[in-house]
Amino acid sequence: MCGIIGFTGFHKAQPILLEGLKRLEYRGYDSAGIAYFRDNTTHISIRKTAGKVSDLAAVCDDENDSICGIGHTRWATHGGVSTANAHPHKFGHVALIHNGIIENYQELTDTYGFGPKLKSQTDTEVAAAVISTKYDELGDPGEALKAAVREMKGSFAFCALFKEYPGKIFAIRNVSPMVATWTKEDGAFIASDLTAFIDYSKRYFAVPEYHLLTLSPEGIRLEDMDGNEVKPEYLTVDWDVSAAQKEGYPHFMLKEIHEQPDAIAKTIAPRIRDSLPDFSVDGIDDSLFEDVRDITVIACGTALYAGMVGAQMIRENFGIPVSCEIASEFRYERPVLNAHTLVIVCSQSGETIDTLAALRLAKTRTKKTLALVNVKGSSIARESDYVMYTHAGPEIAVASTKAYTSQVAAFYLIGVKLGLIGKKILIPEAKEFVETLRTVPDMVHTMLGYEDRVAALTKRLIHAWDVFYIGRGLDYKVAMEGALKLKEISYIHAEAYAAGELKHGTISLVEDGVPVIAISTQKNVHGKVISNIRETKARGAYVILLSRDENVTDPALCDVHFHIPDVPDEFTVFEVIVICQMLAYYTSTGRGVNPDQPRNLAKSVTVE
Ligand code: M6R
Repeated sequence: MCGIIGFTGFHKAQPILLEGLKRLEYRGYDSAGIAYFRDNTTHISIRKTAGKVSDLAAVCDDENDSICGIGHTRWATHGGVSTANAHPHKFGHVALIHNGIIENYQELTDTYGFGPKLKSQTDTEVAAAVISTKYDELGDPGEALKAAVREMKGSFAFCALFKEYPGKIFAIRNVSPMVATWTKEDGAFIASDLTAFIDYSKRYFAVPEYHLLTLSPEGIRLEDMDGNEVKPEYLTVDWDVSAAQKEGYPHFMLKEIHEQPDAIAKTIAPRIRDSLPDFSVDGIDDSLFEDVRDITVIACGTALYAGMVGAQMIRENFGIPVSCEIASEFRYERPVLNAHTLVIVCSQSGETIDTLAALRLAKTRTKKTLALVNVKGSSIARESDYVMYTHAGPEIAVASTKAYTSQVAAFYLIGVKLGLIGKKILIPEAKEFVETLRTVPDMVHTMLGYEDRVAALTKRLIHAWDVFYIGRGLDYKVAMEGALKLKEISYIHAEAYAAGELKHGTISLVEDGVPVIAISTQKNVHGKVISNIRETKARGAYVILLSRDENVTDPALCDVHFHIPDVPDEFTVFEVIVICQMLAYYTSTGRGVNPDQPRNLAKSVTVE
């Protein structure tokens, strides 16, 4: 939530900041701003506005030749969307950008008596005021930042300019992510994530919490709170700038839907040897799984729904108890875990604050925490005992797609490994399962062929008020993800129900013309789901059926039918979800919504 970037080096800063902010816009897009040393003197200028980065560009000075600046794109937390509340905030000799929440901002305001001096309603301006006060006292930017953050409670990634230090950026963080890099040719970069400066470097390091960074064109100094210099641990990504661009697609979401075959293949291929799962590339040997008696999966949003599919598959196929927990609930509960519980923490960004807090709690009760994460070096990846990366590449659209299918595929491999170790499955069966998993990219590719039909169908959905998704077993789990996709980017109320639950209340919502997306791919309950669908049809629902039947033409059953190619039951989720994703995408665009930047949402949820 909120994207931040800083640059100081051998190029003009403004174009780098604006381009970086455009790439970070998925993190927040209600207002934007930059601060820089005007004419490279000790004068700090600020340009900011409510609106998108394109609106900011319109108020920037084309002649700006500063080589050092910071930029911010906002997702409002404290204070509404206005130019005054946009970052950077200037107080005294300090200009500050911030991603996070300062929880004790009111207390700090009262303690220091900042009230009448503040021009915005933001916690960030209070933080700038505290830093400025400390700077006046201590006379040193680094010491001022360290002293200020010692008094703050909450999450923050701060980048600051200090008037007397042109060409330098000072930064510090707690919880909220920041990565940085330096190259001899270009200079020093810092940002919420690597996509902001991937044009310049594929090498970067994740900024450790409570460490001070001083960026200058000549390099980056990293030090701990006691002033000891620390060597940054550089990582390298295996994707390049094109992965963070639309490459001809109208939206990132559509591009990412189409990238799924590749994302899944890249996630599973390095972990298959002799047709069996092998996690040696992750530095994980069988001992991690050997005495596992139960599993707890923890996640939020789409990652949670991927976990639910994984959990059900592992329970049913391999007989291991698996529960799936909502991170924001789990973190405030008293969970029952033990030394034999494997906790799998699943997250695309690796920065979701609830998932991170849940991981920290889980670590107090088990030594077996495994992160299933897409972003290399992210907080969740660093703090877990073990980490397995999905290799989906950067996911920019707010609505998660390729991360979901990659996560599900990874869960399937983990499941087979557990099944083998727990002797719940024989080697030939395991090999057959893994070989089927290897064909998932082709399954997804086939489903992408339905795109035109799905797009045409959404003309019927764009006027809906409610859409219901129904299914049983794995179909119900995938229905939840389908409903989330539709509601978050089309703003149509969408809900998933276990088909058997309809008659316990929900069916009263079904009236003439209400769209019902009915999913029936699980052989053991097919007949039951078909009966449930007929019940909705009899009450006037407009039924879109996804099933493995050929040529369904019965008007008492459905209005539209999508044939789901016949694959083993566990694998139809990969087929069904592609239709659901495209349905959501085209409904969103059909309603004139930008699916990459739906209202009120941000890609990486780093506030509670
Ligand atoms: O980065 P994470 O996977 O931890 O994010 C979890 C959710 O915030 C995320 O999946 C969210 O629900 C997406 N908007 C869903 O499309």
